[in-house]
Amino acid sequence: RLQAISDAIRVIPHFPKPGIMFQDITTLLLNHKVFKDTVDIFVDRYKDMDISVVAGIEARGFMFGPSIALAIGAKFVPLRKPGKLPGDVISEAYELEYGKDCLEMHIDAVQRGERAVVIDDLVATGGTLSAAIKLLESMEAEVVECACVIGLPEAKGRQSRLNGKPLYILVEPREFEGYC
Ligand code: PRP
Ligand code: MG
Repeated sequence: RLQAISDAIRVIPHFPKPGIMFQDITTLLLNHKVFKDTVDIFVDRYKDMDISVVAGIEARGFMFGPSIALAIGAKFVPLRKPGKLPGDVISEAYELEYGKDCLEMHIDAVQRGERAVVIDDLVATGGTLSAAIKLLESMEAEVVECACVIGLPEAKGRQSRLNGKPLYILVEPREFEGYC
């Protein structure tokens, strides 16, 4: 199943800028069996772990998080880019490879003591996941694990960035010999 998931991810070289090998999960979403298998792996892992919050990171974490939440009986909490959520929010800035970004969460979205998993498509530096963890922890939710479909090799060395939280990844980036 993991091989099929890896095979379904399209690699677009030099997008959005030269030297970046973009891992395009939209091709995975086009394949119903592979899409379902991907969601099911996360569901099997989290269904009996007393998780009440699935937090998905805009935008690509929104493509997996809600399906997982529905299947395990949890709520879905969107962590959004700045200025998108209409209610009272908390914000967390984080470093990107080039520049800064920010995630926001509604302060009434989670309650103290709730057990959460954070879902995204891909982890590279871990900066995005780290901001998500801080948002949830500042509302005193417990982050049980972060989960991504793809983990770049560099992510392993950055686990300390995740405040000690476990990181669960399904596949490494596809090989792309012949492109560069
Ligand atoms: C990408 C990806 C992850 C993040 C990983 O999102 O979907 O969310 O970068 O990078 P990091 O581990 O170095 O923080 P991006 O913000 O580019 O945009 P999108 O999901 O809105 O398309
Ligand atoms: Mg993203």
